[in-house]
Amino acid sequence: MLRRLHHEQPSSFAFTPANLEWAQGQISKFPVGRQASAIIPLLFRAQEQEGWLSRPAIEYVADMLDMPYIRALEVATFYFMFQLAPVGSVAHIQICGTTSCMICGAEDLMKVCKEKIAAHPFEISADGKFSWEEVECLGACANAPMAQIGKDYYEDLTEESLAKLIDDMAAGGNPKAGSQVGRFSSEPASGLTSCTETKGDKEANNGSVARAVTIGDSIKRIDGTEVPFSAPWQSSGQFPAIGIMGANRPKSAVQQAAAAKAAAPAPAATPAAAAPVSGAKPATLAAAREGKADDLKMIKGVGPKLEALLNSMGFFHFDQIAAWTEAELAWVDENLEGFKGRASRDEWVAQAKLLAGGAETEFSARAKKDGIYEA
Ligand code: FES
Repeated sequence: MLRRLHHEQPSSFAFTPANLEWAQGQISKFPVGRQASAIIPLLFRAQEQEGWLSRPAIEYVADMLDMPYIRALEVATFYFMFQLAPVGSVAHIQICGTTSCMICGAEDLMKVCKEKIAAHPFEISADGKFSWEEVECLGACANAPMAQIGKDYYEDLTEESLAKLIDDMAAGGNPKAGSQVGRFSSEPASGLTSCTETKGDKEANNGSVARAVTIGDSIKRIDGTEVPFSAPWQSSGQFPAIGIMGANRPKSAVQQAAAAKAAAPAPAATPAAAAPVSGAKPATLAAAREGKADDLKMIKGVGPKLEALLNSMGFFHFDQIAAWTEAELAWVDENLEGFKGRASRDEWVAQAKLLAGGAETEFSARAKKDGIYEA
């Protein structure tokens, strides 16, 4: 399925202070330089906060983790658990439409969704409360047909039980997750044939079921009543020798800027202005010499957007880029908003030296021959 960002995007995103603290706790689980490992929990938290994942939210998380935007976008658009468009305010219902569920009645469940929610997947119901989609196997095939709603699975569904679930949720309820015909977990539908001796309360003995029943937060969204995230290593001094975790962990400039942005929702400075700039700014031009700029897209890694960005920064010619010192390259890398690190990663200076001298690179020769440019 083609997964694109929604055509309408909010102008900005910031974690609430509580979520920001939570996010920093997640990041603190990973060694310095590996912050990107926190991408999925942070994106998911952003989705829980807003209901869906907007482009500003994805870029905000990328900034927090010092990741190029494209890397965060790759993650957000790859995993189906990330909703890239607004969903129902109460619940987004994901009906499994794979073999076991389809054989056992998934089409009937989708008929209920079409009747009670909206005619098409990802369409929001008239009251704004629900949306639905068909998804691939969710791994609960023994309890088919089933749906994921919020954080939980609802299994052994029928048209009637799904319709009732939707009605209950619309009325503010948080119906019990799991099998809707009373069987425990994925026991045989016709009853146990072995291990028939039950020791104690089955649900109480099953940690995940017990917790789901106790906290009943299947469709609850973040509302400030959450148990604060605890990162005991941050204050326990348990890892004194490491010195890179917890309160002593150095925060990147971008993380500090993101934290400041969330703490002070007042008109934000532009990210470039908020983040301290390293390196030395190279000499720039107000305009291309003789009004004729070089085609910077001949540099591998530079597409139309980056070329426009470079021009707006005062870079129009190969010889300008070829002359960047290491410190100047660092400055450019830091200021390529949305493309940070691209200049050194793709070795622009080395390429520009060849192009400025009239030679071709393998890329420029191919680009000219085939008309291929970077996106
Ligand atoms: S086929 Fe529906 S959960 Fe596997």
